[in-house]
Amino acid sequence: MLSRRTFMISTVACALARPAMAQDGAIPLRIDASRHRIAPSEFPETELWTVNGQFPGQPLRLPQGARLRADLINDIAQPTSLHWHGIRIDNAMDGVPGLTQDAVMPGARFRYDFALPDAGTYWYHSHAQSVEQVERGLYGPLIVEESQPPDVDHDLTIMVDDIRLDRGAQVDAGFDSGMDRSHGGRIGNIVLANGMPEFGHPVRTGDRLRLRLINTANARIFTLGLQGLRGVSVALDGMPLARPQPVEDRLTLAPAQRIDLIVDVTARTGEDAFLISFERDGGYALATFGVTPGTVATRPAPAPLPPNPDFPITLNGARNVTLLMEGGAMGRMRSATLDGETRDARALAEANMFWALNGHVGRPKVPLIKVALGETVRIGMANDTAFPHAMHLHGMHFSEILAGGAFGPLRDTLLMRPGEAREIAFAAHNPGDWLLHCHMLSHHAAGMGTWVRVVA
Ligand code: C2O
Ligand code: CU
Repeated sequence: MLSRRTFMISTVACALARPAMAQDGAIPLRIDASRHRIAPSEFPETELWTVNGQFPGQPLRLPQGARLRADLINDIAQPTSLHWHGIRIDNAMDGVPGLTQDAVMPGARFRYDFALPDAGTYWYHSHAQSVEQVERGLYGPLIVEESQPPDVDHDLTIMVDDIRLDRGAQVDAGFDSGMDRSHGGRIGNIVLANGMPEFGHPVRTGDRLRLRLINTANARIFTLGLQGLRGVSVALDGMPLARPQPVEDRLTLAPAQRIDLIVDVTARTGEDAFLISFERDGGYALATFGVTPGTVATRPAPAPLPPNPDFPITLNGARNVTLLMEGGAMGRMRSATLDGETRDARALAEANMFWALNGHVGRPKVPLIKVALGETVRIGMANDTAFPHAMHLHGMHFSEILAGGAFGPLRDTLLMRPGEAREIAFAAHNPGDWLLHCHMLSHHAAGMGTWVRVVA
């Protein structure tokens, strides 16, 4: 038998080529360990869990309307699954162990096969033991191309992440930390763009770039800015904005959120252009665009991206439900139900569980709401905790109902700040059982998840 180590090396070697397709056109997605240089050179390489030996995992790029066929091959020692974040997907392919499929056991494989109805910037990631598996690197980009893409000189995906490394530059093994679970989640001590501490890409003055920014971190909320680049945002969470928005200020990108920008390089030769991450102690370059001479033509402002198929939200006759978010450190929650039993906050903490949605810790047996296909659902969410939460609905995009009644842009993940009350609405156009959870992965593991059922 091959030792694990030789096996790893051989799979890494073949992963450098494009993945061989199965005879029926399925893309193999092999999940196993591989080593990558993500820490400074005085440290050893870091062992990550990756898809096809790549970090970020195997990029997937398909035309809108195509089917994605992929074989997950599990070569790690934990059960796993893949979730296709933001895709309005066939429920059976959504990748949620215990809700839409069984976890894929070590040594086993699973065929994902689904249509891609929407163009845009999506991503895939493990949805099993995700606090650990996403942190260790099990994610990748899923780009669905418009049939008429905007005219740009570079189409760049930038996945921003943070990882907590130990002193030997290995992924810190404290995934169950009660501190992380009860506070802001697991925050890393190294920040990466496309798996690199210093991501760079050459451009010319006057070039037009499409930047697809994806936050893959467990819990870090990125505050981003541009320097030497000027333009607009054209899509949020994959979905085109009806009107592109000028990027004038900082952009907030919560875990799992995406933003597509179309920007022109205004920096001159010898200067650099940057994607900046702002932290408490200042800003630093997440991505550096080295600038060489080019021609600065006056280009028309970017047009909106072509809209995706629409599922109109009709508030008239909509179904209503509220979602109270409670718990966490410095919270007011006194008790909640875990596994059918009411427990006080201390007993919950002893079970390493900290968050409740409508008084339930962890995914309840019954859905938050059960609706018929075609109904519109309104969810009034109140964050009665001391922490922000990135609330993600699987399977369907929603709009926020803004003050005054207008609809916000379509999203799949909404950042709820402490104390906020906000309402979302969606057309229940996709049958199945859909998770609704906090994408701060330690929060989800510590109880912050529920689900909705759409009955065909
Ligand atoms: Cu990014 Cu439940 O998912
Ligand atoms: Cu949360």
